Amino acid sequence: SRIVVLISGSGTNLQALIDACKTPSYPGEVVGVISNKADAYGLIRAQENSIATHAISHKDYDSRESYDQALIKQIDHLKPDLVVLAGFMRILTPKFVQHFSGKLLNIHPSLLPKYQGLNTHQRAIDAKDNEHGVSVHFVTEELDGGPVILQAKVPIFEGDTIDELASRVHDQEHRIYPLVVKWFCSGRVKMINEKAVLDGKIL
Ligand code: GRF
Repeated sequence: SRIVVLISGSGTNLQALIDACKTPSYPGEVVGVISNKADAYGLIRAQENSIATHAISHKDYDSRESYDQALIKQIDHLKPDLVVLAGFMRILTPKFVQHFSGKLLNIHPSLLPKYQGLNTHQRAIDAKDNEHGVSVHFVTEELDGGPVILQAKVPIFEGDTIDELASRVHDQEHRIYPLVVKWFCSGRVKMINEKAVLDGKIL
């Protein structure tokens, strides 16, 4: 399967996916990486692996609609079977989400439906939660609200800093995102009527 990855920053999840794709039997390949920031380190990761990159800055567009239209055009050009959001820090328009409906995945650093939005690690620590984690989900029009495919939990220890917790969560991100992408590319996971279905069973 052809995979396009959208990023805004460091791209460690992109790296995990690029590495997974090197496994001989892996059913997908990253054919393009698009960033809304020209200086995103993830673009260098892609280039080091001879993957096509495009920086499309939202600042060059006067509306969210026109920006998303430009994104759609560039992504369609790459003919993806799957579009993976990996730290892409832009809210997408309903039109964009509908255009890629059923083939758009996101990773969110919380145990959804808990802590949608930003600063999830801080919020979990502040709430004195004893566990936290990460969710991979299909993207629907509801922000961080699409059906969850897979989650991984991590403990929160007393005295944890945000960085310590974030790094523990990141380790799990790098494990579960390539796994879910593999499931998608091999046809095991689908979105049907806005529900995630794995091996024919609604999750
Ligand atoms: C991750 O924490 C992911 O959950 C969130 O954005 C971050 C991206 O990190 N959506 P990276 O750029 O993959 O290192």
